[in-house]
Amino acid sequence: MSDAPDESSRGKRVVVTGGASGIGRAIVERFARAGARVVAFDWDKAALAALDVAGASGQHVDVSDPDSVASAFATLDDEWGGVDVVIANAGISSRVGVLDLTPADWQRMLDVNLSGVFYVAQEGGRRLMASEAGGVILVMGSTNGITGHPHYAHYNAAKAGVIALAKTMALELAPKVRVNAICPGYVLTDMQRAEYTDEMLAVVNEGLPLKRHASPDEVARLFVFLASDWGAYITGQAVVIDGGELA
Ligand SMILES: NC(=O)c1ccc[n+]([C@@H]2O[C@H](COP(=O)([O-])OP(=O)(O)OC[C@H]3O[C@@H](n4cnc5c(N)ncnc54)[C@H](O)[C@@H]3O)[C@@H](O)[C@H]2O)c1
Repeated sequence: MSDAPDESSRGKRVVVTGGASGIGRAIVERFARAGARVVAFDWDKAALAALDVAGASGQHVDVSDPDSVASAFATLDDEWGGVDVVIANAGISSRVGVLDLTPADWQRMLDVNLSGVFYVAQEGGRRLMASEAGGVILVMGSTNGITGHPHYAHYNAAKAGVIALAKTMALELAPKVRVNAICPGYVLTDMQRAEYTDEMLAVVNEGLPLKRHASPDEVARLFVFLASDWGAYITGQAVVIDGGELA
């Protein structure tokens, strides 16, 4: 048992989808700082080029394309000979009333936020199950996958699916591989800034027991904890980090 969660990350081979910005980037930075080998799978080439984190590299991947995900994992097989921690964080968001959602809006959301998580977790899961040591899969849920939030029906449905996927994979892959969904509430990233004005952010903050959004790094630290041996008895959970929102 290590003395701290980040100590047990040293030398681990970690994949983080959506690792070029926002929460994913904070996760990449935390693991890299802890001495892990980290690769960010992201579709944003400019953000990948700007990912200047010692110990981390980037690979252009579209998680909604199963061939793109499969070939990225095949490259890792060649370069790393395996993987220890798989983090399916990449996601998109849009704010649309349920009666105005088009079939294309709905499909695109499911393609990235649910199917994209499945493709990554499945490719990673196959490798972790085949390895001697097993490993950890962490997928990005949200409090939106647990309770209703107006104007996000497509997003909420995808996140609820992610939580069900994590619980089911945890049962099928136990005891070798642990699988959890992390469910943040409001986190201050570009995704959040794109959809909320300063006034809207202030209203949200006022309604939260802790009176503020989470920082990406506060969420990243939970990922490091759950990937570590400090989280060794945690699997099949939707782990909420929400400043008291759901309470
Ligand atoms: N910000 C919040 O308040 C909040 C709360 C709960 C959950 N989340 C979830 O956390 C995750 C990260 O969100 P964020 O706020 O950091 O957003 P962000 O927009 O800052 O980062 C998302 C990253 O995912 C990448 N990405 C998007 N689609 C992709 C695809 N098809 N293939 C590869 N990469 C792709 C983007 O390029 C970007 O780098 C998402 O799954 C989001 O739903 C965010």
